[in-house]
Amino acid sequence: MTNITVGGTAFRRAIIVAMSAIAMSSTTIGAETAPTDPTSAEAGQQIFETIGCSSCHGTKGEGITAPKLVGSLTVSKVDTLLKRILYGGGDMPPFNNLTDEQVAAVANFVRSKINNYSAGVTAEDVTKAR
Ligand code: HEC
Repeated sequence: MTNITVGGTAFRRAIIVAMSAIAMSSTTIGAETAPTDPTSAEAGQQIFETIGCSSCHGTKGEGITAPKLVGSLTVSKVDTLLKRILYGGGDMPPFNNLTDEQVAAVANFVRSKINNYSAGVTAEDVTKAR
């Protein structure tokens, strides 16, 4: 008689392997593993000041008419930050007319200079968030 064990160790291991393959292939915005590109973060500071983020949030993200970006939960997650920049919300206008590179640069500035997150944002992350 063939010994088929459904639910045995091998079977469970196969399920786990299959599930992690699915998890890895799903679209994740912001792998949050690669370090921030310093050139991008610097360009982001220029954009932050030129297009008006700073007039509402302050040049250091300290908050003026808009909430402070220092310690913001929205900034801590790449996907929520990108969606906020692209779509705005509340009294904040959307900035979806910026290129993927420009949005990534602003996000990198806000994350690495205004806050202290080391993981960088790429233009590909922005493409996925749009
Ligand atoms: C006209 C003023 C204004 C401008 C310009 C502006 N924002 Fe905002 N922003 C706001 C307001 C108001 C909120 C809060 C909206 C709400 O959720 O009610 C906000 C919220 C945010 C948040 C979420 C903060 C939190 O913790 O909830 C982030 C992040 C953010 N803005 C980033 C940016 C960036 C980056 C730019 C430039 C690309 C920008 N903002 C431009 C007014 C502005």
